[in-house]
Amino acid sequence: MTAVNVSVIYYSATGNLHAMALAAAEGAEKAGANVRLRKVRELAPPEAIESVPAWARHLRDTAHVEEAALDDLSWADAVLFGTPTRFGNVSSQLKAFIDTTGGLWQSGALADKVVSAFTASGTAHGGQESTILALSNTFYHWGGIIVPPGYTDPVQFRTGNPYGTSHVSGVGGSAGGPTEVVLQAARHQAARVTRTAAALKAGRAA
Ligand SMILES: Cc1cc2nc3c(=O)[nH]c(=O)nc-3n(C[C@H](O)[C@H](O)[C@H](O)COP(=O)(O)O)c2cc1C
Repeated sequence: MTAVNVSVIYYSATGNLHAMALAAAEGAEKAGANVRLRKVRELAPPEAIESVPAWARHLRDTAHVEEAALDDLSWADAVLFGTPTRFGNVSSQLKAFIDTTGGLWQSGALADKVVSAFTASGTAHGGQESTILALSNTFYHWGGIIVPPGYTDPVQFRTGNPYGTSHVSGVGGSAGGPTEVVLQAARHQAARVTRTAAALKAGRAA
């Protein structure tokens, strides 16, 4: 298979998206991609972070994860984005990173990349699809090639979200992190993205 570069770029306050991003990175790597796992910069004020122990802890625990830079987009043939649902929408931290891409977009460097998204919300009907669809607005502007998981693997009938891997984290994170089924779905989504990017790259080179 043609070698492809895949960036997994995510925001996570309390660890759910981080766990899903790790699984996505694993899935892409297993499918043969060179992978960059990147968190976006935390923008919340320290007093807000410190008021939620799980948030402060996760920030400390992931201090070693490299922050996303524009080069992680230029370098990539495919990008998987992960964001928690925030009032049915994309987290402001991920959106702030996206809002630094104007120059890249203008130069055409973001066109034709394979893109896909995953999310988590506190409640089952708390806006997972609306979050992924909101992120898709950006993909349309970039000229991205959106590759959703659909129902392309039996695991999709268990997680039930064809828009992108999604986890119900429970109020206050009470679900205790993504289940193995969710992580499996994230691996599947990333592998499918990788295979699609490789096929496109091979086709363009032919
Ligand atoms: C400001 C804010 C807004 C949120 N909005 C929603 C929401 O609209 N629907 C929902 O179900 N959960 C909502 N949540 C819960 C998060 O989406 C959920 O806890 C998510 O799994 C956190 O991911 P993380 O652990 O990676 O930070 C919200 C949380 C915060 C802090």
